[in-house]
Amino acid sequence: MRAVVVARPGPPDGLEIQDVPIEQPAGSEIVVAVKAAALNRADLLQRRGLYAPPAGYDAARLGLEYAGEVVACGAHCALRQVGDRVMGLMPTGAQAEFVTVQERETIIVPDGVAWEVAGAFPEAFLTAYRALVMEGGFKPGGSCLVRGATSAVGQAVVQWARLLEATCVLATGRSMERLERVHGASPDDCFAEGSGELARWVKSRSPGGVQVVVDLVGGETLGEHLACLAEDGSWVLVGLLGGMQTSLNLGALLLRRLTLRAMTMRSLPLEQRIGLSQTVGERGAAALAAGTLQVTVDQALPLTQVRLAHERMEAGCHFGKLVLLP
Ligand SMILES: NC(=O)c1ccc[n+]([C@@H]2O[C@H](COP(=O)([O-])OP(=O)(O)OC[C@H]3O[C@@H](n4cnc5c(N)ncnc54)[C@H](OP(=O)(O)O)[C@@H]3O)[C@@H](O)[C@H]2O)c1
Repeated sequence: MRAVVVARPGPPDGLEIQDVPIEQPAGSEIVVAVKAAALNRADLLQRRGLYAPPAGYDAARLGLEYAGEVVACGAHCALRQVGDRVMGLMPTGAQAEFVTVQERETIIVPDGVAWEVAGAFPEAFLTAYRALVMEGGFKPGGSCLVRGATSAVGQAVVQWARLLEATCVLATGRSMERLERVHGASPDDCFAEGSGELARWVKSRSPGGVQVVVDLVGGETLGEHLACLAEDGSWVLVGLLGGMQTSLNLGALLLRRLTLRAMTMRSLPLEQRIGLSQTVGERGAAALAAGTLQVTVDQALPLTQVRLAHERMEAGCHFGKLVLLP
């Protein structure tokens, strides 16, 4: 089969489409003919040799998510059958014509959901749910702030929060123009960072602060923005788009009993990935079919144009997901 391979770690021209073997399905594994596999920022880092996949996975192969049709099943499969439409997460290797995965880690793609939408769903929406609800402890009727809401994960957090009947969903980005394109975000609840004091603005919308912050940005302003949280609130760090260094007032953390958490998806052990896929994935797929969750696809490109997709994401001119079609 053809697969994206990092032939030379570094810039995008080190990427090649190469022939690699299809892994035969053992036990309860299935082989999926991939119809769409989205690009993620982790692929850019891995291409440069800066973000290795977990032990046992080939660092030269890229791709964290896929959607496609089951074409073969291992001898002990009981859940999936040939012809099923599935999507899912994997530690790497999804940008290929076929993937071999455990049947229990797949999510059924509802009828009517396009391949390019399904192939761009799992990473953003499972990450977003885990950050907001499982790590952040968000409860229906609660309030939250999403830093970096124009990112694919940020857009997914806004939508989950709306679906979970948040009373207040606040969103930040670097420009109001891009924020106004975020599905489910009301322009009145969007703030361009750098245009004023964020905590003051948050408290004007949500007195006392918000219960959960999902942060895709990090950066040097993180420490001062802790004031956005209500007492006992949780700050969940998911991305570092704005940088890795900040200065923290530990007194504020202690006296207001704040929680600062960080999470990564790719390091999730298989059984936890399966648990997330089975619960959140199925709920998300139903909402996707109903149109209450929506994936923004920036562009869908043939697998052979993988270098172009990396260049576009690196340039930062995309809005939503870049999808590769094998
Ligand atoms: N921890 C995990 O398991 C996990 C999982 C998935 C993703 N992530 C991380 O989450 C982040 C978002 O991923 P994504 O795929 O959703 O991203 P994406 O769709 O590529 O969006 C990136 C967004 O980042 C913003 N941005 C770019 N440079 C920035 C900077 N210097 N400061 C502030 N904002 C900046 C841009 O927004 P504006 O130009 O509109 O401001 C852009 O919309 C990434 O850091 C990614 O690595 C982490």
